Amino acid sequence: MLILGLETSCDETGVALYDTTRGLLAHSLFSQVDIHVEYGGVVPELASRDHVRKALPLIEEVLAAAECSPEDIDGVAYTAGPGLIGALMVGATLARALAWGWGVPSLGVHHMEGHLLAPMLEPERPEFPFVALLVSGGHTQLVRVDGIGQYRLLGESLDDAAGEAFDKAAKMLDLPYPGGPHIARLAEQGNPDRFNFPRPMVNRPGLDFSFSGLKTYTLNTVNDCREASGLTEQDKCDIARAFEEAVVGTLVIKCRRALQQEQLSTLVMAGGVSANRNLRASLGKALAKEGARVFYPAPEFCTDNGAMIAYAGAQRLLAGQVDGENTAVRARWPM
Ligand code: KG4
Ligand code: ZN
Repeated sequence: MLILGLETSCDETGVALYDTTRGLLAHSLFSQVDIHVEYGGVVPELASRDHVRKALPLIEEVLAAAECSPEDIDGVAYTAGPGLIGALMVGATLARALAWGWGVPSLGVHHMEGHLLAPMLEPERPEFPFVALLVSGGHTQLVRVDGIGQYRLLGESLDDAAGEAFDKAAKMLDLPYPGGPHIARLAEQGNPDRFNFPRPMVNRPGLDFSFSGLKTYTLNTVNDCREASGLTEQDKCDIARAFEEAVVGTLVIKCRRALQQEQLSTLVMAGGVSANRNLRASLGKALAKEGARVFYPAPEFCTDNGAMIAYAGAQRLLAGQVDGENTAVRARWPM
């Protein structure tokens, strides 16, 4: 079964062709980051317009790259939520129109299910059951996964998502949007012994997260530095380091706790923040000590992409699920 996947939930137009026997045949991504950077965040109306501009050319591109024609396609999967409503509607309308024209089924996919299953695109795949850490710009969640569609939320952020915290900390340090990769870059030059930021909520039982206190702590430190010496480049690196250590430390503690609670030894990590090298290394090291393993997608499939939607859609279409007449996109949608 050959599935076309379309991701348009935020500021990335992602398209991919996934074949259930041959695997991922082709994928292409257009990032709108240059369009939004001057506004310091994603402008929904501009995002929708750009998806309209880029989606069809990207579909033509992946068809050509995979040497496929529309007649080969057996189904179209698209992100139906959560995300920016206008951006989602562009993808959903296009996907459903194409599917209708081609006489094949379409299916709306949950964006976070796409992230969660992205490690399945790798040659070495995790086996069910596992605990998934979903860390993106909009979500920080720990989920028990027993199979496709069998998800139980174990814990989540009570305020900011981890990626959002990275983006806000970056803004305080005058770094461009999205801030995660910029913080990570500065952190590599930072002195780990200068500041020690709090690890939020690790002393409380349970698997929920909170990053807003860390945000305030970061802001206070930035202001102290500004007053003392005008926020030097080294200050920025040291703050980025302390901030990243605090987020990574918190995530590691909660992941270990989740595995213990569920008596599992496989962790899957996905979403934009899972591209963070410090997080990958620290989790790998901490879990190895306990005989557990962590799986994550290739960096290009950590952030939003069409391949994860094509994969998740393929699994559900294989199981016989298709869109109904009343299928709608949803800005908010619990998994
Ligand atoms: O999954 P994603 O592409 O979009 C959402 O669904 O939100 O995640 C984007 C988030 C942004 O907040 C970005 O700053 C963060 O992932 N991010 C990172 C890194 N790369 C992307 N955060 C920390 N370190 C990184 N290397
Ligand atoms: Zn995402």
